[in-house]
Amino acid sequence: MMKRRVAILISGRGSNMAALIRAAAAADFPAEISLVISNKADALGLERARASGVNTQVIESKPFGKDRAGFEKVLQAALDEHGIELICLGGFMRLFTAEFTRAWYGRMLNIHPSLLPSFPGLDPHGQALRAGVKLSGATVHFVIPETDAGPIVMQGAVPVSDHDTADTLSERILEVEHRIYPEALRLLATGKVRIEGDVCKTAGSSASENFLVAPVVGR
Ligand code: GAR
Repeated sequence: MMKRRVAILISGRGSNMAALIRAAAAADFPAEISLVISNKADALGLERARASGVNTQVIESKPFGKDRAGFEKVLQAALDEHGIELICLGGFMRLFTAEFTRAWYGRMLNIHPSLLPSFPGLDPHGQALRAGVKLSGATVHFVIPETDAGPIVMQGAVPVSDHDTADTLSERILEVEHRIYPEALRLLATGKVRIEGDVCKTAGSSASENFLVAPVVGR
């Protein structure tokens, strides 16, 4: 099996990166993590990637300031050098130019800790709590010029309780993130997903029988 060559872009902790690296370690996983790139030299995830024996590279974005295209030129050169075919963003907190997202359209995934299109952008957990939703979750989607938007590949839902804080909710959602991101990458790497307009469809998929209701009240 020819494994697709994947780069993961991070800015911080890298727990989604670690979940992808773990999944990709399986012999039958259709993708390999060929490179981890951080736009911050002190990202915790870099250590985790190195410890797993994955190639890492730091491309500091700060010196580029508002010159997004300048940063992306260096980034693209690194991706080319490593023959990267697919990109996974894992808590990568830097916006791209529309040109870069178009160049990688259909080949670049992002994960966001809400059920998009609800609560894009910063502090999605706080947004969910303030909106009082009873279900939230995580979304893996193709990257388009708009932030935290684009054809949805996979979502996972979790209940929200009256006692949740941004921290407890983010912890619960993170578990679902780690579950769905490797699955979504597997679908992309095996060519099972196709984009039809704004919508992503998955070959051989069906609706799950399960449903999730919240709140649950003891009586
Ligand atoms: C994750 O919760 C991810 O969904 C979120 O940042 C966190 C990164 O954690 N991404 C966004 O909010 C994108 N808008 P990680 O570094 O441990 O994977």
